[in-house]
Amino acid sequence: EKGGYQHFMIKEIHEQPKALKETLSPRINKDNDIVLDDIKLTEEDLEKINKVVIVACGTAYHAGLVGRFAIEKFAKIPVETDVASEFRYRDPFVDDKTLFIAVSQSGETADTLAALREAKEKGARVLAVTNVVGSRISREADDVFYTWAGPEIAVASTKAYTTQLVAMYLIALSMGLKKGTMTREKYDQILNELKTFPEKVEKLLQNQQLLQELADKQFNNQNVFYIGRGIDDHVGREGSLKLKEISYIHSEAIAAGELKHGTIALIEDGTLVVALATQDHLYDKMLSNIKEVKARGAYVIAVAKEGNTEIEKSADIAIYIPNTLDELTPVLSVIPLQILAYYIAVARGCDVDKPKNLAKSVTVE
Ligand code: F6R
Repeated sequence: EKGGYQHFMIKEIHEQPKALKETLSPRINKDNDIVLDDIKLTEEDLEKINKVVIVACGTAYHAGLVGRFAIEKFAKIPVETDVASEFRYRDPFVDDKTLFIAVSQSGETADTLAALREAKEKGARVLAVTNVVGSRISREADDVFYTWAGPEIAVASTKAYTTQLVAMYLIALSMGLKKGTMTREKYDQILNELKTFPEKVEKLLQNQQLLQELADKQFNNQNVFYIGRGIDDHVGREGSLKLKEISYIHSEAIAAGELKHGTIALIEDGTLVVALATQDHLYDKMLSNIKEVKARGAYVIAVAKEGNTEIEKSADIAIYIPNTLDELTPVLSVIPLQILAYYIAVARGCDVDKPKNLAKSVTVE
């Protein structure tokens, strides 16, 4: 059932090219138009919407953060993102001009469902992004976008996350084009790049030796920090969650610019820092952050785009992702973080697929 793999998690990591393809292909027709057949949002509906609220838990929330970036960037609509358990505590400002997006792999998460019900009651249009057909969240939403990741068995979410990212990009691009907030040219450029992702992820999965070797050296850390700026920060959060949930190492992700405001006090000799530096306009700032933590003795693994080798001068080790548009890096940059977390957990002898205290689907609030 694990198809020759030692754990479901690593099997599912390897299934990502296929999952991405199945989520993408049926949505793009031969004219390069995005066909979201399960979403009945018309141009008129969109015209009315003045705000998007994205709500989810855990990994799905991290996909929502990237969704916020994509919708604001492409469709120019203000977006708020909330963890589902917190959403209801602030009497959120939601009305019939709000598009509420619930992201949930299982479609059964209690907090996400409760938030969805509250938004619906307040008149919002509700769109669900989910991986399970017929799930409760899919049934209660007005519109559904299915991620075709296939069943995800490992507790730690991998292929669900990358397909959620693709879902968010497709939704944002289709909104941007319909609203006229992006040019057809830009839209085509981004969509065409997205179509190369199954292949690019396949390429990333081919060589895991470096990450395995790193894991074998770095499995004994007590604290790991993930730093990044912009969407790299969102991916850092996901990388950190992956590591802590399966390896039981304390890890924390922070926006790199926040380091100096407190967290840098915890960096000492040998502390592992994973630094994401995939964004061209933020690259120099990340190099400075890497130097700052290096000066305090950190061991730095950097993730950068192919060709940006200058980072090797500051970091201890550089992991490269295939070159791509900066807006789309999360789908690629999360892959080495998933693999690193996996091999660290294996090196520690952890029960990777069934971490202690965790359930695949959280149906209590
Ligand atoms: C982490 C993980 C969880 C889930 C969260 C939401 O690897 O899997 O953080 O992402 O419990 O679950 P869904 O997406 O089913 O609502």
